[in-house]
Amino acid sequence: MTLIDGKAIAKQIKEEIAQEVNEILAKGGKRPHLAAILVGHDGGSETYVASKVKACEECGFKSSLIRYENDVTEAELLKKVEELNLDADVDGFIVQLPLPKHISEQKVIEAIDYKKDVDGFHPINVGRLSIGLPCYISATPNGILELLRRYKIETEGKKCVVLGRSNIVGKPMASLMMQKTYPGNATVTICHSHSKDIKEECLSADIIIAALGQPHFLKKEMVKEGAVVIDVGTTRLPSDKTKSGFKLFGDVDFDEVAPKCSFITPVPGGVGPMTIVSLMRNTLLAGKKEIYN
Ligand code: GUN
Repeated sequence: MTLIDGKAIAKQIKEEIAQEVNEILAKGGKRPHLAAILVGHDGGSETYVASKVKACEECGFKSSLIRYENDVTEAELLKKVEELNLDADVDGFIVQLPLPKHISEQKVIEAIDYKKDVDGFHPINVGRLSIGLPCYISATPNGILELLRRYKIETEGKKCVVLGRSNIVGKPMASLMMQKTYPGNATVTICHSHSKDIKEECLSADIIIAALGQPHFLKKEMVKEGAVVIDVGTTRLPSDKTKSGFKLFGDVDFDEVAPKCSFITPVPGGVGPMTIVSLMRNTLLAGKKEIYN
């Protein structure tokens, strides 16, 4: 069994990005600039955004954090989005989700200029992804592709089961695993809360990507010998054993599943660090105007 070390790969990629930023600056180019909008004080969102700001520093990017209280109106938020769309210094920006209930997430996502949508959530980026055109690919699926690439994991002709059908992970992941390039060319099945026979589907899978948000959902009886298991779960549960008072739980019962796997990602230290680094890669692409002018 090989443990996929997302933390180490993420560190390596951040160093590669920082190197490229130095080269851009040495040639008189502009430092890439990522802006993030954070509404409210949700613990998970605070942690993620703080990690994104820190990663920007490590990559040599400029970052701007724009904060609002929970009672910000949708109109105010949309006005800020429009401002960032027009700000020539900002190469890309994100609005951290979830948003308070009185604000339509979809409306906000669609207000973002797709050319600055480094999260890859705008329907234009999602649509271009699904037909194989250059676009911003959402961070978690892109991070998983990079892990498959760096560990040279075969995907062609393999049976891949994606657990979960979210717009951010499950759907784009399935789309990417069936695209006509490496990593891809897999036979993909998506399972979700209404699927029957999830155990049988998983048992026949060469690659399982678990993204349902149900702690320790995937058990050893559901995994065949030699499978590749990618765990996207990041459920934060209270714990008195950690400094932060929280512990992260993956969707895979790691201790019992790992011995059966050829490759597996841990939680934490697997997919999580790759998600942040994928956002950094998209920001670099945005800075270089590599996907859209
Ligand atoms: N909330 C959970 N994951 C994400 C993400 O990748 N981007 C944004 N903007 N919000 C999130």
